[in-house]
Amino acid sequence: MKYEIEVNLSETHIIEMSKITLRPYQLSDVDDFMQWACNSEVLECILLQLWIKPNSSREEVVSYFNQVVVNHPWYQAICLDGRAIGFVVLEMQAGKYDFERGRADLSYALGREYWGRGISPTALRIALSSAFHKFTNLVRIQALVGPGNKASERVLQKVGFTKEGVLRQYAVLADGECLDISMYSILSTDPILN
Ligand SMILES: CC(C)(COP(=O)(O)OP(=O)(O)OC[C@H]1O[C@@H](n2cnc3c(N)ncnc32)[C@H](O)[C@@H]1OP(=O)(O)O)[C@@H](O)C(=O)NCCC(=O)NCCS
Repeated sequence: MKYEIEVNLSETHIIEMSKITLRPYQLSDVDDFMQWACNSEVLECILLQLWIKPNSSREEVVSYFNQVVVNHPWYQAICLDGRAIGFVVLEMQAGKYDFERGRADLSYALGREYWGRGISPTALRIALSSAFHKFTNLVRIQALVGPGNKASERVLQKVGFTKEGVLRQYAVLADGECLDISMYSILSTDPILN
């Protein structure tokens, strides 16, 4: 399924009247995927995506792409005029506890050269609308933001997420460092802001 919206990126942005769409990743997107997936500035912000390191080999990234990204139930490519420039993914929480049904984790990223053009808020609005429409039992979408990621917090605020608080020492990294994480959420009954 493909979702799309026409956007008029403001005159300060390089791209005008471009079309931002979401669609599932395809095998043919692998080289575009590598553009952002191997960028250290992008990777260091994505706490939940620690499967790829800046020094991962092409084979490791391609293997992950083929096995996980392409087969994921809701791993969408953020496309600009049809070309994949980032991702937005929803991970349904289910299994450990019964009460987790109806809840999903959201994460997203854009290729470095596309930051600051208002693309992510537009992509998230499309993602939220389509996810709440498709998964009728989905009540809550939550996003966890690492320390200092002001751009990501701003994106969530612009779209209508509520900051619920800070989860102290929530993420424990491989080297033992513990990070405080901000918890944001949006409910199916909340307005998605323009
Ligand atoms: C976070 C990310 C998705 C933002 O996407 P984007 O399309 O560039 O978002 P926007 O164009 O709306 O710009 C970000 C907003 O944050 C603001 N911002 C950026 N850096 C900021 C900072 N250091 N302090 C405060 N605000 C900041 C910008 O001014 C802009 O807000 P504005 O429109 O009110 O001026 C993108 O930077 C990215 O891919 N980062 C790496 C991956 C990541 O962090 N993913 C989220 C994990 S939770």
